[in-house]
Amino acid sequence: MKNKYLAAVVKTSQGDYRVIVGKSILNLLGKELEFAGFMKKKCFIIADKSMFPKNVKLLHETMESFGYKTNTFSLELTEENKNYNSVSKIYDWLSTMKAERKDFIVSFGGGVAGDIIGFAAASYLRGMPYIQIPTTLASMTDAAIGGKTGYNLETGKNLVGSFNQPKLVFEDLDFLNTLPIREKNSGWAEAIKHALISDVNLFEEFESNKKNIINLDNEYAAEILKKSVGIKAQVVTKDEFERGQDRIKLNYGHTIGHAIEKVTKFKKYLHGEAVSIGMMVSINISLNLGLVNIDTVKRQKNILTNYGLPTNDKNLNTEELLEAIQMDKKNVDGKVRWILLRNIGEAIIEDNISLEVLKSSISKIIY
Ligand SMILES: NC(=O)c1ccc[n+]([C@@H]2O[C@H](COP(=O)([O-])OP(=O)(O)OC[C@H]3O[C@@H](n4cnc5c(N)ncnc54)[C@H](O)[C@@H]3O)[C@@H](O)[C@H]2O)c1
Ligand SMILES: [Zn+2]
Repeated sequence: MKNKYLAAVVKTSQGDYRVIVGKSILNLLGKELEFAGFMKKKCFIIADKSMFPKNVKLLHETMESFGYKTNTFSLELTEENKNYNSVSKIYDWLSTMKAERKDFIVSFGGGVAGDIIGFAAASYLRGMPYIQIPTTLASMTDAAIGGKTGYNLETGKNLVGSFNQPKLVFEDLDFLNTLPIREKNSGWAEAIKHALISDVNLFEEFESNKKNIINLDNEYAAEILKKSVGIKAQVVTKDEFERGQDRIKLNYGHTIGHAIEKVTKFKKYLHGEAVSIGMMVSINISLNLGLVNIDTVKRQKNILTNYGLPTNDKNLNTEELLEAIQMDKKNVDGKVRWILLRNIGEAIIEDNISLEVLKSSISKIIY
């Protein structure tokens, strides 16, 4: 079905699904749902509190207008309650409402909502279909696509989960109107990361048209976001279970980013902010190895700064970061796999980075 807002079709072992990105496009949701195979059934909207009441009411009424018998549940789905307690509240509600496997679930919120609701959908009645309507820039560019779902344990983040692909990802920029600016900027880190690792033309658009892009309030900005989203979707299609060389490249800046989040106790930085500083360490490693020149380092730094992101922190400590890197759960057999740039738009994987190079690259962001 033709839709000019189609960013990508994600192809997975659990089926193919469309990712739609545009501004003020809620009226198109009905057709997309039908295309995804949801004939007039019952649907269960589960929404983050931040969408309540105005946007929840809007979505509820829109779903009813398409002919779906709609039930709605709002609960607080933020990082602090990304735990089994929230999953269990969702199970209880679904069972009270007598949800059946032929019905479907709508996840409406940020990345936390998508992860938790996607997990509940994977496990309730051994699996109900669901769709994603992400409401943060970070979840639009990243979390809503790819089917990774789950929740945190006291002992660590995302330790319980499953791969459960949605049947549709529907992204309407209008839902970002209420998103705080810091959350928006944090999302830009992931969107720009996609350009850095695989699309120099997109990077140049980010560079030269910031004014039209940053507020996400026009068709051009939607078009740019659509391109960035398309990159994530393509990567998932190529490497659904992160076994190959593709999906891991999305971790550009994340080894150090995770370490920064950890040493600052997940309080000082939003995820994208920490990744932004992490990407500066990564590009300094690339510089150190002679893969890129200093101009490329400057271009990356400028773009991150221009999109409201931090690129250094004088309070970080090299030894603490090195210790935290060793604990990253993405390490394979205790080895860190570094994602580096060979060029803007071209990422490579490097397994062997000397301690000396690493220390020197970290020291460049501590000022
Ligand atoms: N599944 C994946 O592949 C994947 C990838 C990246 C991140 N994640 C997960 O995503 C989560 C982070 O997602 P996030 O960055 O979207 O954060 P989030 O879901 O915690 O949302 C951030 C904050 O914004 C609020 N919010 C959401 N939408 C809003 C809106 N439109 N207006 C105002 N406030 C709004 C939320 O209530 C929350 O307080 C993490 O738990 C991370 O593990 C998952
Ligand atoms: Zn990330």
